[in-house]
Amino acid sequence: MKMPGLLDALHGVLGDKGLLTEAADLAPHLIDWRGLYHGATPCVLRPATVAELAVAVRLCAAAGVAMVPQGGNTSMVGGATPDESGRQVVVSLIRMNRLRDLDPLDMTMTVEAGMVVQAAQSHAAAAGCLFPLSFGGEGTATIGGALSTNAGGNTTVRYGNARELALGLEVVLPNGAVIGGLRALRKDNTGYALRQLFIGAEGTLGFITAAVLRLFPAQPAQEVALCALRDEDAALALYRRFRGRDEGAVRAFEYMARNGMELVLRHIEGASLPLAQPAAHYALVNLSAARADAGLRGLLEAVLEEALEAGEVLDAAIAESEAQRAAIWRLREEHPEAQRRAGGSVKSDVSVPVSKVPELLRRCHADLARLIPGGRPIAFGHLGDGNIHMNLQQPEDMALDAFLARSEDVMMTVNTIVRDLNGSFSAEHGVGRLKTEMLRDWRGGAELETMRRIKAALDPAGLMNPGKLLP
Ligand code: MLT
Ligand code: ZN
Repeated sequence: MKMPGLLDALHGVLGDKGLLTEAADLAPHLIDWRGLYHGATPCVLRPATVAELAVAVRLCAAAGVAMVPQGGNTSMVGGATPDESGRQVVVSLIRMNRLRDLDPLDMTMTVEAGMVVQAAQSHAAAAGCLFPLSFGGEGTATIGGALSTNAGGNTTVRYGNARELALGLEVVLPNGAVIGGLRALRKDNTGYALRQLFIGAEGTLGFITAAVLRLFPAQPAQEVALCALRDEDAALALYRRFRGRDEGAVRAFEYMARNGMELVLRHIEGASLPLAQPAAHYALVNLSAARADAGLRGLLEAVLEEALEAGEVLDAAIAESEAQRAAIWRLREEHPEAQRRAGGSVKSDVSVPVSKVPELLRRCHADLARLIPGGRPIAFGHLGDGNIHMNLQQPEDMALDAFLARSEDVMMTVNTIVRDLNGSFSAEHGVGRLKTEMLRDWRGGAELETMRRIKAALDPAGLMNPGKLLP
């Protein structure tokens, strides 16, 4: 079938609301969040049900047309943008956003892929529960996208990645067949755990259309502190002190360095440092508990006192209200936006064993500063997971094009150190289009060969999100 015939057939299945073809409607689907890629497409499919999607997929497969699944389009690695050929159709599940079920006794909820992550959090909260997945893009990113990319974020240290939060999945395969795996079981040893294949596959094996997600007890007790630290080692030492005292109390442990904090204070309206003076290194500690009388404040103060005495913590501000907690979190969450406003940046999202984070920070800082004089290394992220966003900000006196032309060098500089420390080139942002060559380099041999065989088995025609993940 030629494209015009396919569009007619798709319109017959999806209707006006389910098929966008006007240039103005397509535009927001063609550029990624970071503005790295500008793709083209004849249409965006927006099915309202699994049945509609399954038929649409069959039509596209029969026509040999490639499909690009797109959630909230917040990928950091161009994972959800069509290529420039104009022959790939975008498939958005944004209309499939219903809460199908929520069971506070089983502590599960079943949601459709197009539900925004923040909406899933709200549904859980309304039932007195917690859906813990939380990251910067949660107000736009969808559950389908979060699962497809195995999103991490701020609470991985306590609750795990998206992978750990999904008990069951419903999936439409590249041939239009539907896997109805929405089982809400904690124990289910019945063959291959197929759902784990689709989680983190970045839409290269099929469409995740719904998921059974784990819920947890709500956490009314919260303590948040911002700490000024002596050095990189002190950040790790402070994390260890909290874990040593009460591992289960740590909801998040985030690291930030001077350069990033300066950008936030300069570019984000209303941002202010709740400490007497700026420091070279900061930690954001968030403790939480289900019981109001869990003694979190005592724990926080005791650990901070020890760390102050040991000279690791130089100063600390403990939030006294929800507003102050939010203000401290904002200093961390606005790092990407502040960087965006400050000009171009090259991002690396890497992980190393937690014990190696100080070495990673020191070596990257030194090598990046040497690589591009005037470039500002911006390091922040999820220290408790060994996951640091190791970015380099455009020098003020260097043109954007000239700076971005050095992107490969910048990423290589970071990756060389990460490899030496037995880490990963992508901790939570995935591979997308940006890092496929890194996948070849880091996961080659039998590992990549096995991935290719899985891909060939499920998507022999290579129609699912081509050009992403696999080199
Ligand atoms: C974050 O933790 O803020 C995100 O992963 C975004 C980023 O790396 O810029
Ligand atoms: Zn992150």
